[in-house]
Amino acid sequence: MLKSLQGKTVIVTGASRGIGKGIALRFGEAGLNVVVVSRSQGDADKVAAEIGPNASGFAADVSTEEGCKAMVEAAVTRYGGVDVLCVNAGIFPAAKLGEMTAGDFDHVISTNLKSTFLGISAVLPAMTRAGSGRIIITSSITGPITGYPGWAHYGASKAGQLGFMRTAAIELAPKNITVNAVMPGNIMTEGLEGNGPEYIAAMEASVPLRRLGTPADIANAALFFASEEAAYITGQSIVVDGGQILPESLGALEAMG
Ligand SMILES: NC(=O)c1ccc[n+]([C@@H]2O[C@H](COP(=O)([O-])OP(=O)(O)OC[C@H]3O[C@@H](n4cnc5c(N)ncnc54)[C@H](OP(=O)(O)O)[C@@H]3O)[C@@H](O)[C@H]2O)c1
Repeated sequence: MLKSLQGKTVIVTGASRGIGKGIALRFGEAGLNVVVVSRSQGDADKVAAEIGPNASGFAADVSTEEGCKAMVEAAVTRYGGVDVLCVNAGIFPAAKLGEMTAGDFDHVISTNLKSTFLGISAVLPAMTRAGSGRIIITSSITGPITGYPGWAHYGASKAGQLGFMRTAAIELAPKNITVNAVMPGNIMTEGLEGNGPEYIAAMEASVPLRRLGTPADIANAALFFASEEAAYITGQSIVVDGGQILPESLGALEAMG
């Protein structure tokens, strides 16, 4: 049983659906004040209403400096500070090399990677004032460990987040701020559903635990990184993928029976 985080405040970006929503619900259940961030105020408000009176929505585009600063200001005004930042918002449009434009590349890098830098930069003054903080990044297995046709830009953004994290963790350690990452495998979200039923079925078949993950699976790992019990862990990442990266070949999966 982890010690209570009741009364602390978390900002979750990309929390109007999918993994971010799962994280927001889980942290809300654990008694934290939750700032639910997405570009749509209406969608963010809906998730906040689901969580309860300890949550509120905020509309921000996290690929912009103004958006990130505004979401932190809102958390400080509403709840008095920010204890935890979950940098989760991300997009994964597919485009193979030869078709991928410079604009596609910039869009993915700016939404997934630049937003990591901007969000962390924006929250630093509040966490520095408080003398502590927890930052949890939603990376991926795609990029840091694996590849998938169409996602060269996405993989670069997700591997980039981990590269960024390692130096950020060293720089922020003297301020008692930890920075860690969760690396999801294939998690059943609205975003993933967009890849179609064939993709989903193929993915299920390639996971040793024989199911896709749920947003709650990722949220539990994020909650651990936010806990007092994880105070001595920084600059680390945890793979939550049902064993997806383990089989060395299709033969290994078939041999499971
Ligand atoms: N699903 C998976 O299998 C999987 C696997 C590995 C890693 N991940 C990572 O997990 C994270 C969430 O993925 P998901 O599957 O939950 O995606 P999703 O269902 O498509 O949800 C994405 C969330 O991000 C928000 N968002 C997108 N662009 C934004 C922006 N510029 N500013 C603010 N919010 C923005 C969306 O809300 P609005 O559109 O309203 O802004 C939405 O709340 C991503 O970082 C992704 O790379 C997912």
